[in-house]
Amino acid sequence: MRVYDLILKKRNGHALEAGEIEVLVGGFVRGEIPDDQMAAFLMAVYFRDMTPEETTALTMAMVRSGATLDLRAIRGVKVDKHSTGGVGDKTSLVLIPLVASAGIPVAKLSGRGLGHTGGTLDKLESIPGFSCDLTPEAFIAQVNRVGCAIAGQTADLVPADKRLYALRDVTATVESIPLIASSIMSKKIAAGADAIVLDVKTGSGAFMRTMEDSRALARAMVAIGHRVGRRTEAVISDMDQPLGFAVGNGLEVREAVEALRGEGPADLRELCLTLGSRMLMLGGAAADPEAARAALEARLRSGEALAKLRAMLEAQGGDPGAVEDLSRLPRAAHTAPVPAAADGFVQAIDAEAIGLAAMALGAGRAHKEDAIDPAVGIVLTPKVGDRVAAGDSLARIHARTAEDAARVAPRVRAAYTIGPVAAAPRPLIHEVIACSEAA
Ligand code: URA
Repeated sequence: MRVYDLILKKRNGHALEAGEIEVLVGGFVRGEIPDDQMAAFLMAVYFRDMTPEETTALTMAMVRSGATLDLRAIRGVKVDKHSTGGVGDKTSLVLIPLVASAGIPVAKLSGRGLGHTGGTLDKLESIPGFSCDLTPEAFIAQVNRVGCAIAGQTADLVPADKRLYALRDVTATVESIPLIASSIMSKKIAAGADAIVLDVKTGSGAFMRTMEDSRALARAMVAIGHRVGRRTEAVISDMDQPLGFAVGNGLEVREAVEALRGEGPADLRELCLTLGSRMLMLGGAAADPEAARAALEARLRSGEALAKLRAMLEAQGGDPGAVEDLSRLPRAAHTAPVPAAADGFVQAIDAEAIGLAAMALGAGRAHKEDAIDPAVGIVLTPKVGDRVAAGDSLARIHARTAEDAARVAPRVRAAYTIGPVAAAPRPLIHEVIACSEAA
């Protein structure tokens, strides 16, 4: 079978067999297929799309390119969660202890942030002492002992994704639904959970900006999970404005702790209750969304969810006292408000612009090797629909210096659209795509 013929077949719009996809992925990872041929194949996929069978075959060929985690030693149904990434998205910090406190074991591998969206590992590492560096044995033992653990993804998991993504990045083939779906799902499947809840973001701060694209991606991923025997559901949630108020690593940890105390922003709480309910149902701990929600609300009220975060921090070397005393989290040397220029109602907050402004302060990375500052970021005051008067603070900037804050303030102000009429905020939860809807 010549690689040329496989590229030609895809270029001409025909579906490839699973064995043919294995030849391509395996050959590429072993270095037998050069970048130019793989790039041509990726471009053919970009224009010709893939059937659900092909996308699943691509996903599984990627899973087979490296090691997989065997979580069978963990008791119970393991339910994982993945977000396609957003600005101010600290959901995992709340959800993992919350769901674990309701009896579902969570063994989560997370990544670092790149670009305008943050990563869970960076947020957790803003807690003094916390380490995400766990061996597979320690990771599994901690989930059995504590109920949850978060570790960094190791390089031996899905090496095909790293190589394919690097090639997609330089060949304008990132924005392809089958390539994105297989990239995300290969990592989730290799990470070993029995069931997966996907938070697919949609809007100005998301990878997928339109509902149509977000729905297509969500459906493609749910179908892959279904076909390989991992119960998978997707929630399409709004990312047209940042989630919650805080954007920046330590600031987001603070907000997550507040949410676990039963306080904190309403949108963050609602998203966590929605995603958490699906996780409880997939894990068999609740029969319907109402029962699941009630169970989670009870864990927030009783303090069990917060205690679970404390236990996880303690197990991973983090300062557990930060849960009671938020002043133990890193603090920026300088804070400054961003005053509104005019009276009116907040009509929109450009999430990507806020994410990029936080990155400019040092909260995120432009390049993989960049260091981040855990203390800096932006805390929004009004959100979409709120009324403001000229001079009111739109946000508070947490910066290393007064100069940094002054440099970023105009960008924060420009991210806000203020108009004369009250705008209705977009719904937070747009759609839930359940396992039964898999193609
Ligand atoms: N996130 C991933 O993990 N892979 C993609 O291809 C896009 C977003």
